[in-house]
Amino acid sequence: MSFTVRAPAKINLHLGVGAPREDGFHPLVTVYQAVGLCDDVTASRSPGWTLGVTVPDWIDADAVPVTGDNLVDRAARLLAGHHGVELHAAVSVAKTIPVAGGMAGGSADAAAALVALDRLWELETSDDDLLALAAELGSDVPFALVGGTALGTGRGELVEPVRDPTTWWWVVVPSGEGLSTPEVYRRFDELTPDAPAEPGPAKALLKALGTGDPVVLAGALHNDLEPAALDLRPDLSDLLELGEQNGALRGMVSGSGPTCLFLAEDADAAREVAARLSEDHGVVLVTNGPVAGAHVVTYA
Ligand code: C5P
Repeated sequence: MSFTVRAPAKINLHLGVGAPREDGFHPLVTVYQAVGLCDDVTASRSPGWTLGVTVPDWIDADAVPVTGDNLVDRAARLLAGHHGVELHAAVSVAKTIPVAGGMAGGSADAAAALVALDRLWELETSDDDLLALAAELGSDVPFALVGGTALGTGRGELVEPVRDPTTWWWVVVPSGEGLSTPEVYRRFDELTPDAPAEPGPAKALLKALGTGDPVVLAGALHNDLEPAALDLRPDLSDLLELGEQNGALRGMVSGSGPTCLFLAEDADAAREVAARLSEDHGVVLVTNGPVAGAHVVTYA
């Protein structure tokens, strides 16, 4: 018996960041959107515990930790411990979400693993318990369970769905080399010594979402981590400019970066922007959102 669960990458349409809390995390007010770049996690019956990862050509396999500290290992141990069951399954992760790219690929894998193993082990964990376990694993993991578009607060782990009936089209340009999220937050602290204790609300973005108009949304996109990511990776500024000169309504860094995102008017416009960017950048992806959170796609 095996289950395959698909979990989406996230982007942050609004990412407001405050001064670090006592626990070192930063308070966030963010609007997440789940987009159609997904990882698939397959969990099959097995007497022991094994974990494998497959990646497309353009992802560096060495960049994905497969043992010990992998979020999938941690998710499995946490779920097994919560129910007092033994850790036994053969798990494989098929990645298409950029690694260390600011799109919460590791968090998607953890969310998918929780759902797949819950099914495989027939645990019937409640939604509230799954969300609590997800929050223990990482700030973005609860959102990977919920998907769609959602307001994130706390350190990002408190998620509340937001109505978002439009399909928005994005061009995604991953970077060969990842950025470390803690390093980007540290640079944010250096660049923003006067950050507020609580970031302001995401009013403008939520209002823009309601219009269904990509031109309005483009004007409301906001990422407080972008200056820090650009400070660490100045080359990304040229890429953002190139996209905007070639039909994108707006370019922005995704989360803590270095993946860059471009909002396009519609699907055709997204394909045109992607074609132009792919003349200079090896991997350029077109996707849309919002899409569903972690869900079973195959029972075998
Ligand atoms: O929660 P997660 O494990 O994904 O966070 C990774 C790192 O990113 C944290 O250790 C912390 O350095 C930084 N972070 C933060 N504030 C947040 C979320 C993440 O400082 N709200």
